Amino acid sequence: MASLQNVRSFVTLVTIAGSRSFSTNLMPRSDLVPLCKTADVAPGSVKRADAPGFPPLAVFNLAGSFYVTDDTCTHGQASLSEGYVEESQVECPWHGGRFCLRTGQPLAFPAVEPIRDYPDTIVGDEVCISEPPSES
Ligand code: FES
Repeated sequence: MASLQNVRSFVTLVTIAGSRSFSTNLMPRSDLVPLCKTADVAPGSVKRADAPGFPPLAVFNLAGSFYVTDDTCTHGQASLSEGYVEESQVECPWHGGRFCLRTGQPLAFPAVEPIRDYPDTIVGDEVCISEPPSES
């Protein structure tokens, strides 16, 4: 019989192996922070989310796969959750910089610095991310 630790290790391995969002009905992990309900973000759209210890975040739904990134554009202070989602990219509403939602990498000038991309997990009907590492 698998222990909870073994199940968590398996979940981690599956996540590392390439599944961007991972769905589970297992017991919630204590290090996960819920951001929003999956139903709050329609396919092809984005929702801003705030969580203690994190900068403003943006939750994207790309055909049922969820991505969590920084909400603030690295070129200025625009909110990317007010931008335009197209395929796997978001276009900044201020100057048209674009970012890849799978990697956070900039794809179009004037954006030249990447946005942070956070691994996410779907627990039940919630999009969650891990708690930020403690400052030491
Ligand atoms: S603020 Fe986003 S491209 Fe300028």
